[in-house]
Amino acid sequence: MIIYKSINKLKKEVNFKANIGFVPTMGALHKGHISLIKSSKKICKKTMVSIFINPSQFNKKSDLKSYPRNLKKDIKILKKLKVDYLLIPEVKEVYKKKIKKKINLKMKDKIMCAKYRPGHFEGVLAVINQFLKLIKPKYIFFGEKDYQQLHLIKKLIRKKFITKVVSCPTIRDKNKVALSSRNILLNSNDKKKSSFIAKLLLSFKNKLNNEIHLKKNINKIIFDINSIKNINIEYLEIRNKNNLSKIFDKKNFKIFLAYYNKKIRLIDNY
Ligand code: PAF
Repeated sequence: MIIYKSINKLKKEVNFKANIGFVPTMGALHKGHISLIKSSKKICKKTMVSIFINPSQFNKKSDLKSYPRNLKKDIKILKKLKVDYLLIPEVKEVYKKKIKKKINLKMKDKIMCAKYRPGHFEGVLAVINQFLKLIKPKYIFFGEKDYQQLHLIKKLIRKKFITKVVSCPTIRDKNKVALSSRNILLNSNDKKKSSFIAKLLLSFKNKLNNEIHLKKNINKIIFDINSIKNINIEYLEIRNKNNLSKIFDKKNFKIFLAYYNKKIRLIDNY
């Protein structure tokens, strides 16, 4: 694996006209990232991973500070997976002077995480825009766990780039908790609560698959989840999985959740 700390050097040495798959990450790699890398290795000749904790997508300084970092372990994982290139760029190279650190969202997109984390997706879109402007991979890989992120990135890429987006299913642990870098901040009791919530919503989803009129039970579910000690829902909504509108039927709905488990903010969708 070749490690690049400079995008400029990477651009000089790697031929992006070749079939290259790009997996952008913020590090603290887990099985969710590994599944993206494996998908890239399946369909691309070479795979490039980036580790860049993008400051412009954190709307709270404390969140940026506490974001898990584990570069040594990450490099070990990537070498074992036989990733071809690892890019670890510096903030000042990604956001050179005059480069926009935010890309504005349309009013209709300011829902769910975009509403509760103002500026977050604006920062995510800015960094993806910047990466794709500088390096032009054939494919880019994202997980469905961050479904709203995936939806907004797909829209941006469709408009501006020829890179193809590949989305990969959420990976869950044996207790049904969606894998996330933030899970290492949870203790075993916190994890039990997250597992209970995931199982409850997976079973609610199954019920809705057959009887969509049961969507009215969502308020009771919100009440039950909020009654768990130290759990606070930010939003729990059912939306159309294709356009994220509130018009859906039993064939195209998805349940979206963001909640705090003590101070840790977690998201999931079912
Ligand atoms: O999903 C993430 O880890 C980040 O939002 C991403 C896509 C790497 C952009 O910083």
